[in-house]
Amino acid sequence: MCGIVGYIGKKDAYPIIIKGLRRLEYRGYDSAGVALLNGNLNIYKKKGKVQDLVDFIDDNNTSGSIGMGHTRWATHGAPNDTNAHPHLSQNKRLAIIHNGIIENYESIKQWLETRGHSFASETDTEILIHLIEEILNEEDCSTEEAVRIALNKVIGAYAIVIIDRLNPKKLVAARKSSPLVIGLGKEEYFIASDATPIVEYTNQVVYLDDDEIAVLSLKDGLQISKTDKTVISPSILEINLKIESIEKGGYDFFMLKEIYEQPKTISNGTRGRFNAQEGWTRLGGIDKFNNKIINANRIIIVACGTSWHSGLIAEYMFEDLARIPVEVEYASEFRYRNPIITEKDVVIAISQSGETADTLAALELAKQKGALTYGICNVVGSSIARITDAGSYIHAGPEIGVASTKAFTGQVTILALMALHLANKKGTISETRYRTLLAELENIPQKVAKALETDAVVKQIANKVKNSNNALYLGRGYNFPVALEGALKLKEISYIHAEGYPAAEMKHGPIALIDENMPIFVIATNQSAYEKIVSNVQEVKARKGKVIAVVLEGDTQIKKLADYIIEIPETDEVFSPLISVIPLQLLSYHIAVMRGCNVDQPRNLAKSVTVE
Ligand code: G6P
Repeated sequence: MCGIVGYIGKKDAYPIIIKGLRRLEYRGYDSAGVALLNGNLNIYKKKGKVQDLVDFIDDNNTSGSIGMGHTRWATHGAPNDTNAHPHLSQNKRLAIIHNGIIENYESIKQWLETRGHSFASETDTEILIHLIEEILNEEDCSTEEAVRIALNKVIGAYAIVIIDRLNPKKLVAARKSSPLVIGLGKEEYFIASDATPIVEYTNQVVYLDDDEIAVLSLKDGLQISKTDKTVISPSILEINLKIESIEKGGYDFFMLKEIYEQPKTISNGTRGRFNAQEGWTRLGGIDKFNNKIINANRIIIVACGTSWHSGLIAEYMFEDLARIPVEVEYASEFRYRNPIITEKDVVIAISQSGETADTLAALELAKQKGALTYGICNVVGSSIARITDAGSYIHAGPEIGVASTKAFTGQVTILALMALHLANKKGTISETRYRTLLAELENIPQKVAKALETDAVVKQIANKVKNSNNALYLGRGYNFPVALEGALKLKEISYIHAEGYPAAEMKHGPIALIDENMPIFVIATNQSAYEKIVSNVQEVKARKGKVIAVVLEGDTQIKKLADYIIEIPETDEVFSPLISVIPLQLLSYHIAVMRGCNVDQPRNLAKSVTVE
């Protein structure tokens, strides 16, 4: 949520910043801006996408080898040119870019007004830079010291970068609850919200931790200290992020590329983690805690959005296979409802980005109460990955399309492996079932590839239903969360109102909505509840609903009833969400393209929600 990029070195900062902003645009895209220091502090900002900013800047002066840029997802103040970042201090000496929220900005603003400050924008960010200026004026201290004093006065979340026109050889940055990573080049530094703007220049990085302030100085190198002044010695990590993985590679949209990557990302996520022939599973993160987890009172899963849907599937898996009670919670509700958590509970956070503010806060709460915390994340080095006691990366590679696809299947795969691992340790499934499931897990990438071959059929169906105003998704058992996920995908990128329901619940409300204009997507692949799903389809047809059914290859019964069918390969029910979600992802993609929507950057959404 909001992308930050900064550069200090010998090169021209502007092209580096703009390229970086394009890579970070998935984090927010309502406006963008840059600040460039070349004796003068030049600021350009514009409502809209990064391209609108580039067009606006045109052939204005973009010189300077110190600069920073921001792509915004509005919290305080409408998306317009004035509210776009960077923001200037009153005397225009300092400029700031910020990701996060300053919660007590109103009281600071009132205090600053009594001292003669006036503000151009409606943002909380502008208040912070005025506060820093006020401290600099009062205390006669260094910029970083003024930043430190200011941060000790603010409440909230932030990742900030500051340029001081009078100190042209350094950038000052700080973080609390919003990510920042520093790239170390040769006589140059980069700073960004994630590593994607940095990787083509260097693979040496330092992740800032909460309450840390960094000074990136061409004269004195990189210095990091805490807001309480403790000096930190930076721990330099080598990252292994390939540039191809953050480019579209010939696809029209990142989302489509990511959908098609799934056979590979599922293999990558499980590589070296199980062997069906030898009958073992190995999840580095879990080993130390096997006993604690299998003897836990319960597992509480906290997550948001698509990751929450993965959590719901995990509930079926963990209870079915490992017989451990599971509760799945929206992180935002869990953190504020005074939940009962004990030291005998295990809290699993699922998060693609590893930065979602509510999920992070839910974890902090679980830690305070003494529960074991476990993270299932995609972004390596992310905050959730770092604060949890243990965890497993899903290794899906960068997911850039705002609507999550390959991260979902990556999460479900790792959760399935975890459930199998725990079930085997606990002795809650037979050796035969364990080995059968492991053998089937080996087949999943190839079955996902087969499910991707439904694309042409799915596209035809998309064309038939693209003008609908509403849609209903029905599923049972393991496929109920897939119905929720299918509906979410459609809402997110095509702006069609859609709801997911357990198929049997349809009779308790949604059935009233059904008429000949309402497409009903039925996931009808569960062998265990097949007859019941057939009845649900009949109930819909009796009310003239339009049924689009996802069925197993060779299905005959539902084929006769449904208006359209999408055939996918059979698998064990435990893994069925991994296959049945594929046509639903493709469907929402095609409908969104046909409706002229921006698939990768849907309105009002952001990929990484770092504010609550
Ligand atoms: C946002 C994204 C969703 C994502 C959710 C949770 O809403 O648009 O795609 O599922 O956040 O994000 P996380 O990174 O925690 O999985």
